[in-house]
Amino acid sequence: MMADLDINYPESLALAQLPTPLQPLDRLSAQLAGPRIWVKRDDLTDCALSGNKIRKLEFTLAQALAQGCDTLITCGGVQSNHCRATAILGARLGLKVHLLLRDEGASDEGLSDNKPAASPDGNLLLDYLAGAEISIYPKAEFQTRQRELFAHWQQHYVALGRRPYLIPTGASDGTGIWGYIRCVEELLGDFKQAEIAPAHIVHATGSGGTQAGLSLGCALHQLDAQVLGIAVCDNAAYFQRKIMADISDWQGRYDIAELPANLSVQVNDDFIGPGYSKAGPEVFACIKKVAALEGLLLDPVYTGKAFHGMLALIEQGYFDRADDIVFVHTGGLFGLFAQREQLSF
Ligand SMILES: Cc1ncc(COP(=O)(O)O)c(C=O)c1O
Repeated sequence: MMADLDINYPESLALAQLPTPLQPLDRLSAQLAGPRIWVKRDDLTDCALSGNKIRKLEFTLAQALAQGCDTLITCGGVQSNHCRATAILGARLGLKVHLLLRDEGASDEGLSDNKPAASPDGNLLLDYLAGAEISIYPKAEFQTRQRELFAHWQQHYVALGRRPYLIPTGASDGTGIWGYIRCVEELLGDFKQAEIAPAHIVHATGSGGTQAGLSLGCALHQLDAQVLGIAVCDNAAYFQRKIMADISDWQGRYDIAELPANLSVQVNDDFIGPGYSKAGPEVFACIKKVAALEGLLLDPVYTGKAFHGMLALIEQGYFDRADDIVFVHTGGLFGLFAQREQLSF
């Protein structure tokens, strides 16, 4: 069994502002008369680089640089936080970035490969600002041709004499998950300082890498807290497979003989609502309530959905009232601006 604390991290870049704070949400906890809720402020990893992606990209981009790459190609939804973080980090590191974006709109009219969006908002605005090359594809085309699109652009850059590096959705693979394995080390320090032993760590699951890292990190660092991912898009069976695939990719890439016996992956898919990037009125009500009561800002695609799920689970008595629970705030605020019309005041 390899569950000792002698973990050999691969090379990484220091890009995030760490450690992020751990803060109690005392007014909300008192109002709910449930467990004490804490929030790990990974939305504060940096300003425009805020959120969970930067922890993963610290490892991913170190690998890209070590391989001598000069161009990053990655993909995501048109409001992808991961793509925004990659665009900004590329600018910071002097790398060219090409984003392959999936239009999420009901109508795909007017959007096509390499045609600039008419009035970019939220993350997309920042992608343009950071100088990324942007190709937006209608959802159906993006889904059926994703591999082909990556291969096409990879060949395009190779033909130009560049060295492209492909980053999968959310930087969720065997390399990116190191970011959240290491985050568990940080959490251990936070918990010691706050003198708490949380029973649960709750967060939004979108491409699975954050949960793969947290779940594996807890097992490796022997942190006895159950990681609960709240799915924002696909169902629990999909995420069980995806998270275990990221973990076995990690195992293969870093020659890990055995997985820790105490590894456990738990996903709740009760709060997906209408689908990826679409939230029901209960999520917007939760965003408004938490902002007004605690000054904590959530987004409708990830953190608001997951936070709403956590509050619903508290109401259902899922957590013990005597427990401390930690919500990992994974960022995503810019996505709120792109859905401003859903916030009625
Ligand atoms: C703000 C935010 N929170 C949570 C997630 C989910 O993280 P992961 O993709 O690692 O599951 C993402 C990305 O998908 C995100 O952008």
